[in-house]
Amino acid sequence: MASLVAVERTAQLRELFPHLDERVYLDTAAAGLCWKGHGAAVARFYDEVKNRGYDARPEWWAMIAKVRSRLAQWLGVTAQDITFVSNTTEGLNLAANSLEFRSGDRIVCAQDEFPSVIRIWNKAEREGAELVAVPIAHESERQARLMEATDAGARVLVVSQTHSGTGTTLDLGVLGRHCRERGTLLMVDGIQALGAVPTQLDEVDIYASSFFKWMLSGFGIGMLVTSARAREAMAPAWQGYANMDDSHQLQYAHVNTPALYGLDSTLELLEGIGWDTIHARVRALGQELIAQSDRLGLDLVTPRDQHAGIFVFRAPDGEATRLRLAERNISVSARGEGVRVSPHFYNSTQDVEHCATALAEVLATT
Ligand SMILES: Cc1ncc(COP(=O)(O)O)c(C=O)c1O
Repeated sequence: MASLVAVERTAQLRELFPHLDERVYLDTAAAGLCWKGHGAAVARFYDEVKNRGYDARPEWWAMIAKVRSRLAQWLGVTAQDITFVSNTTEGLNLAANSLEFRSGDRIVCAQDEFPSVIRIWNKAEREGAELVAVPIAHESERQARLMEATDAGARVLVVSQTHSGTGTTLDLGVLGRHCRERGTLLMVDGIQALGAVPTQLDEVDIYASSFFKWMLSGFGIGMLVTSARAREAMAPAWQGYANMDDSHQLQYAHVNTPALYGLDSTLELLEGIGWDTIHARVRALGQELIAQSDRLGLDLVTPRDQHAGIFVFRAPDGEATRLRLAERNISVSARGEGVRVSPHFYNSTQDVEHCATALAEVLATT
């Protein structure tokens, strides 16, 4: 009975995402699907501007404050810790360029990090800091290697919470405590984890994420979350009318308010489904995908006990494999050493079974 209820619930949920009727969509790590009500929520902002112009501003400010508080409560931080930005990369840049460095400071990251994590340190390097890029030979050792590299002392440890090319997911609590004990700031690119796995930021100093992947909320809006301790160490790199009176305020100008209308409606949906349910479904679909891939002899790069919703399978030619799956109506990405399969809560066990079987067939004839 319980499983029948679960199946009916999944069918109801899937109706909110019409693309799932047409496609086996397993590419949330590239972009999540928007639900049926998201566009209407965004349009509400433009209707307000059409009908009332700037007289509608109290509603806009109220919406910005509402979303900020909603996110803060969810993530275990305070509303003033959240700065809205356009995307993850802007958030990471704003933080990196607002921190002040001294000669000899070390910034530790994995050698194979996402470009937006690695390429933001020009000002730090001009000020004499050194970027220490740590090689990762085995995925299961990623977290340990990064922790070891900070033992010699580091100003910043910067990581992807979930690695976009391998799926390895780090424990922010463990890393955060390790960093605090050593006076190191922990800085995190959270975009490939936020919404897929439980995330608490009380041990994190700097966290940036957009909302277009696992948060299903389209492009042009992101957040930068900073702890009071991190803000104390920052002089805002960008200045404008919105941070004239506060030397630690990072928000410098207007934010993408229509996108926040959309995000609010999607948070309402996701909270209504329940974060526990969403995270449990992501976990269960991942376990099913791993079980199927074991049955079929697929070569999984992602560690079995340190993942979120990204699973990377080795393939000799990732792009050719992706194209052959696309011909079979399955959306995945070519990443890392092969193809990246990324189921979210709206997928079904049939989706992941179908994909694993198709992948095994394609690889057998490559
Ligand atoms: C780890 C990681 N960081 C950042 C990005 C880019 O995000 P944004 O466009 O929000 O900067 C991606 C993927 O698009 C990603 O996988």
